[in-house]
Amino acid sequence: MKQRIEQPKSSEITPRELYMSRRSFLTAAAGIGAAALGAEKVNELLHPLTVKAATHLNAQRSPISTTGEKQTPYQDVTSYNNFYELSTDKETPARIASSFHPLPWTLQIDGLVGRPLKLDYDELMKLAPLEERVYRHRCVEGWSMVIPWIGFPLKALLDRVQPTGQARYVAFTSVTRPKELPGQQRGVLNWPYKEGLRLDEAMNPLTLLTVGLYGEVLPNQNGAPVRIVVPWKYGFKSAKSIVRITLTDRMPPTSWNESNPSEYGFYSNVNPKVDHPRWSQARERRIGELFRRETLLFNGYGDFVAGMYKGMDLRKDF
Ligand code: MTE
Repeated sequence: MKQRIEQPKSSEITPRELYMSRRSFLTAAAGIGAAALGAEKVNELLHPLTVKAATHLNAQRSPISTTGEKQTPYQDVTSYNNFYELSTDKETPARIASSFHPLPWTLQIDGLVGRPLKLDYDELMKLAPLEERVYRHRCVEGWSMVIPWIGFPLKALLDRVQPTGQARYVAFTSVTRPKELPGQQRGVLNWPYKEGLRLDEAMNPLTLLTVGLYGEVLPNQNGAPVRIVVPWKYGFKSAKSIVRITLTDRMPPTSWNESNPSEYGFYSNVNPKVDHPRWSQARERRIGELFRRETLLFNGYGDFVAGMYKGMDLRKDF
């Protein structure tokens, strides 16, 4: 991952309400002027804001949410992304995300389980009640956001498949569709994108199987139709567009660790005291803020997760 922290242009920092009203304005303007402008022009006008028609999701706000922290505007959350299957820069994923057609989708859960499962998108959405979780999201590159995700605890799905006594780890595999995901036509990572958690981390109530954000289905560039969100770890642990969850008895290989083991470990817990070999992790740039803020151990979620790492040397197991 690149060291330089890129800042969004101020024109991109648009509060959600403003962004929505701009969209309604454009939609209305398109309706009124369509005949005069012609369909092509109308499409051009609407294109950047209507890559995918958003679909509303009903979800209850979970008590496990950050309180008092300002949410990062929708526009930033959905236009400043790391999604290497689409592009290695941060602005391109949103621009070209419409090349990806996630549905129909199958999520397979297998490995050391009593009841392996294959779910289509509708079955997945019915598996457990949807919750809104407002989480801090800290990228290993040094930027952070606060995002209202929608999903349900991964534990609900894992309980359903009944892990066997031998299961100790959970491996996540992202989608492989080079025709729809142009980044996969290049060997920047060993495709498919792979991530993993220890079983207790995967079962932790914070770990969210995520299907939406800001009250809507996940935009493609944020990992549609289903991704993992692990808020006490650096963002790269939160694999996007996952097709397979496999329970195993040994630590699974992970993409970033495979590509650069001295820089990206398996655990990757947010830790201001353990620097990346090329930069400090002590502070972070919250997108939309001018001054850097201090990074919190476990991204501020120590009360929920510190117990899982008792007795471990977090410098060694970074
Ligand atoms: N998952 C896949 N499949 N491909 C990726 O390139 N990037 C990771 C993670 N999950 C990535 C991925 C990184 S580095 C980060 S910081 C987060 O997704 C970014 O999530 P966001 O774009 O929703 O903020």
